[in-house]
Amino acid sequence: MNIAVERLVLPATWDEDSEAGRVFRAVVDLTRDIRAHYYGTPAVAYDPPELLGLLQRSATERFVGFTAAVDGRLVGRALLWLPLRENTTMIEGSWLLAPGLDAAAHAATASALLDALDTVADAEARPWHLLEVPCTPGRLVPAGGVGSADPDAPDAAALLARGFTLQQVYRYQVADLAALTDLDARLAAALVPGYRLVTWTGRVPEPHRGAFCALVATMDREVPTGGVQYEAQHWDDARLAAFEDTLERAGRTLVGTLALTDAGEPAGYTELMATGRAVAHQGDTLVAPAHRGRRLARWLKLANLAQLRAGFGAARWVTTDNAEENAAMLAINESIGFTTALHEGLWQRLPAPERSR
Ligand SMILES: CC(C)(COP(=O)(O)OP(=O)(O)OC[C@H]1O[C@@H](n2cnc3c(N)ncnc32)[C@H](O)[C@@H]1OP(=O)(O)O)[C@@H](O)C(=O)NCCC(=O)NCCS
Repeated sequence: MNIAVERLVLPATWDEDSEAGRVFRAVVDLTRDIRAHYYGTPAVAYDPPELLGLLQRSATERFVGFTAAVDGRLVGRALLWLPLRENTTMIEGSWLLAPGLDAAAHAATASALLDALDTVADAEARPWHLLEVPCTPGRLVPAGGVGSADPDAPDAAALLARGFTLQQVYRYQVADLAALTDLDARLAAALVPGYRLVTWTGRVPEPHRGAFCALVATMDREVPTGGVQYEAQHWDDARLAAFEDTLERAGRTLVGTLALTDAGEPAGYTELMATGRAVAHQGDTLVAPAHRGRRLARWLKLANLAQLRAGFGAARWVTTDNAEENAAMLAINESIGFTTALHEGLWQRLPAPERSR
């Protein structure tokens, strides 16, 4: 068995007539097939310009990718992100391998991708690593305390052998907008007295950019992270504009809803990324601690789904993912109609001196 892991070279355009263009398009096809396997529909695929747009360097992160082939057949790809503002000793990433791969080839490929990660880590002097990969339930419980993974599955075994520990299990879900026939009635019933919603598509409107940044900046400390300690993110208008640029480069449109108190104080937000195709992706949802327990998140999400449906006629499938310990968010999503497609484990390897602490 010959395993070949190679650096993914991005073409200048998705349809470039070059080796880089051909490899990139093969990666898009493989990603589509793997996502279709888990979600049950190819409609959740990224399209080539979208993926190329998402992988461009931005003001906040840089991308490094790898392809993996077994005996000349492309079987996987790893996407690694190098944050440029905070968490600058970290590499975070994910890999997806073809579901039909036999266990020995899967284990050898996972191990070869970890070798590639180590090469980047040494070259970039980034010793803190977070990797998210699909998992199946088993006897390993993550640091977050909820969910589980099979430690003997090929990915898990390779990660454990290389010093990674399981921090969280994520539930990846999808909702079919076509099945939400009572969305308007549910939205009307979800209204929370004392608050109003502001909705928009595209760039966050001028009067709300400060409030949006203030809420987004708290996300990493409010969301459950298992044992992962992210540095706090600083969000200002320039960072928001860079985020908006990245979405636009990928052909995505931000569909946002902000909750304000009647007095105008920001209380929460939710965001969807519309693609113009059948799939849209849920981004963050947050209710500020002082405003929790009033069912604001459900109202926000229903309003945003209604806005998506009204503005993006092709939108049908909405994907989302949340940590298994995020009981409130999962309860809301499942009451809306999201169903589970797959689970992924979030694995961490700390710099060597910190691992034994
Ligand atoms: C998740 C979050 C947005 C929910 O905010 P909220 O609207 O105030 O949520 P509520 O407290 O009103 O609870 C919503 C639902 O979850 C349920 N819930 C809350 N805690 C729960 C728990 N531990 N187990 C099961 N259900 C729970 C509530 O009963 C409620 O359901 P109901 O309306 O059927 O009674 C908020 O907790 C938050 O901002 N968390 C931090 C950020 C985050 O994790 N975002 C999600 C990932 S992007």
